[in-house]
Amino acid sequence: MNTSSRPNGRPQNPCFSSGPCAKRPGWSLDALKRAEVGRSHRSKSARARLKDVIERSRKILGIPGDYKIGIVPASDTGAVEMALWSLLGARGVDLFAWESFGQGWVTDVAKQLKLKDARTFDAPYGKLPNLAAADPARDAVFTWNGTTSGVCVPDASWIKPDRAGLTICDATSAVFAMDLPWDRLDVVTWSWQKVLGGEAAHGMIALGPRAVERLLSYTPPWPLPKIFRMTSGGKLIDGIFQGDTINTPSMLAVEDALDGLVWAEQVGGLKGLLGRSRANLAAIAKWVDRTPWVDFLAEDPRTRSCTSVCLKIVDPWATGLKDQSAPPKKIAALLDAEKVAYDIDAYRDAPPGLRIWAGATVDTADLEALFPWLDWAYATAKRELAASAA
Ligand SMILES: Cc1ncc(COP(=O)(O)O)c(C=O)c1O
Repeated sequence: MNTSSRPNGRPQNPCFSSGPCAKRPGWSLDALKRAEVGRSHRSKSARARLKDVIERSRKILGIPGDYKIGIVPASDTGAVEMALWSLLGARGVDLFAWESFGQGWVTDVAKQLKLKDARTFDAPYGKLPNLAAADPARDAVFTWNGTTSGVCVPDASWIKPDRAGLTICDATSAVFAMDLPWDRLDVVTWSWQKVLGGEAAHGMIALGPRAVERLLSYTPPWPLPKIFRMTSGGKLIDGIFQGDTINTPSMLAVEDALDGLVWAEQVGGLKGLLGRSRANLAAIAKWVDRTPWVDFLAEDPRTRSCTSVCLKIVDPWATGLKDQSAPPKKIAALLDAEKVAYDIDAYRDAPPGLRIWAGATVDTADLEALFPWLDWAYATAKRELAASAA
């Protein structure tokens, strides 16, 4: 194929951002018609919608009945930080980081909480750290899917079933797209704006029985702001796990989260969601295979994310450039201007490259329509950048 000729077709939905992610196919503002706007979030009807989010999430994700699920402030960041601030300090902690968000949690623990007994295991973009180094006597903090490197944890074989420490897992770009072994995860967090394409607002936290036990038996030595507090007078604030949010949620965002969950049920629940995301990754892998200028950033195919797919440009012309961010920036700008793909430049802290969201709300047909445009944009970027350098 002549990659410099302008393709004819185009993706129906050009949204390939890794968060906020594409809305589900067929979404329109009509999805929010039943939102409990203008009502107290403590009203019976609004509370029922909040509870519905919790119950549908539990059912779709197969979260065990003895896990508590809460809707908490400040999206995934709020959920992770509430877990770190509430639970850490009782034991030593092992921190695993291989991209920007995981590094952020390391900073929280080392520089803000200033935990003395913290070990950090990190790895450069594209790789995983040595997860087997996790000591089951210690707590562990990690991200299931590194959204900015496209490297995910392949399985939970490194987490002992009989561990004494807690595992705290930021799973925001993994839930609803990857199989999570709930019995190995004591705390799991996520936000609405990722795989189901909801609006960013509140976050979700799931606490296993051992995390609840820690909450009840341990009081951290540092102050806890109200938005992090899950206990009161030595008891769990049970309402948080029944839809009584700590502070006021957006009922529009709640309605949208529900819309995503109902859609998830319609496409076959978790199995259907996983299937859609895997099919998307398979389509991208096929294109990468036949495309000489591009490769996955994730070195080990077992660690390749099926949501935030990160790609690097391997054409010697591009790798020989002084500013290697120029070609991907140009590709992203060209495709944005063509309204073919939005927000596909690599994350600001990641190595230069492209990042294409492949979660369940993305149709494989839209990726197939995108590939010829990527080839066209690369050829165009190369030609124009080479001409301007000459
Ligand atoms: C792995 C990971 N953790 C945390 C966050 C922060 O999420 P939020 O902005 O929803 O708080 C993101 C956002 O992309 C993420 O990908």
